[in-house]
Amino acid sequence: MPDNKITEKFHPSFTKLGLSSIVAISEQVRDLEAATGRKIIPFQRGDLNLEAPEYVKDAAKKAIDANRTRYPRSGGEPGFKEAVVKYHKESGVELVPENIVCLHGGQEGLQLSFSLFRGKRVLGFSPYWPCLTGNIFPYSENAFETVPLEEKNGKLSFDPAELKRKLKDADLLYVNTPHNPTGKVFDRAELRLIDEAARKAGVVIVSDEPYDKIVYDGREHISMLEFGNENTIVVFSASKSYAVTGFRAGYAVSRNTEIAALLTRANYSQTAGVATPIQDACAAALNDRARREEWVAFLKDTMQRRRDALYTGLAEVFPGLVKPQGAFYYFLDMRGIIPPAVKNRDEYLLNLFLDSDVAIVPGASFGKEGFIRVSFSGTGLEETAEGARRIVRAVKKAKADGAARTALAGRVSL
Ligand SMILES: Cc1ncc(COP(=O)(O)O)c(C=O)c1O
Repeated sequence: MPDNKITEKFHPSFTKLGLSSIVAISEQVRDLEAATGRKIIPFQRGDLNLEAPEYVKDAAKKAIDANRTRYPRSGGEPGFKEAVVKYHKESGVELVPENIVCLHGGQEGLQLSFSLFRGKRVLGFSPYWPCLTGNIFPYSENAFETVPLEEKNGKLSFDPAELKRKLKDADLLYVNTPHNPTGKVFDRAELRLIDEAARKAGVVIVSDEPYDKIVYDGREHISMLEFGNENTIVVFSASKSYAVTGFRAGYAVSRNTEIAALLTRANYSQTAGVATPIQDACAAALNDRARREEWVAFLKDTMQRRRDALYTGLAEVFPGLVKPQGAFYYFLDMRGIIPPAVKNRDEYLLNLFLDSDVAIVPGASFGKEGFIRVSFSGTGLEETAEGARRIVRAVKKAKADGAARTALAGRVSL
């Protein structure tokens, strides 16, 4: 008989990979809905339920009809790169095509960027996007250390001294603005401080900016690109910008052309590039400035209404609640309502809200137990307002029942 212990030969960079808690919750919600006929409000998702703009879809269709069906140019089609160069010029950022690599969404951009520094130490802010610790860092064997984002006078901020101290033991710094899960939009002064501290420490910045178009109250997204740092990689995505998560398209930018060339080769090694019609659609999305601005205005307005509907609904039980400045998440502190005897706070919170027919993502996978992330990406305005009412109902019930609800943990498990 052949030796069957093949599993022992698997590389830990594969066997340590997780399946997102968000996917796991979505599957449980589907099962629950099928078994009970209940309709659960999907606040767990991070996927816009908007239809992609017609002009973007048309460009993909036209590319197929024009037989743009061959292997793409490695690192990106010339037309794609030109569109990216032109687009960033609008905000005063000068790039050349050699700075740009077309990739399969932000996810591949981050995975390849961290894999370029395999095994190195990454510093980031907490809370953070769970995919980093569940997938991206295990896959490229990076160690991860954090600096907390803490609320002070209604503003989330970090301690610059702590950042500088921890940068001494880091090789890379992960920045994400607008921020998932808190909705924080880092301002220019904060980003400048981060940039200067990283330069001083000789640390490479990986800046994750997939929510760059989704900022509220007339706010401006400041890109890490604006600081002209050679050793910064900025990752952009079409996913949230044009409601095309299924396109799997985005790009990385680095002024260090050696970095960009290596990312190009890595992308070629893995997949040989993003589908040509998808690249054409992304180029069209950027090139048609009038239609793009019209779409982005619609996107911001739609999401801001949802954000405000949630705020109005939630303010009753969350005094001092701060509205997210960008992205489409609230990250709510639930520590005050969890009975002390509860062992698994994530399961308690998941079950508490599922009992009121609303799905959320508990905080542990974001690095912050006792919190929940509420996403308004996949619910219309009415459904969002109804979701807020259900959250309020659940919170009031939890407060009233107190310790009696300790038993909730363990019913639907994570
Ligand atoms: C913070 C953050 N970065 C990156 C991504 C990756 O998005 P995509 O791979 O669809 O571009 C996401 C998606 O949810 C995200 O929330």
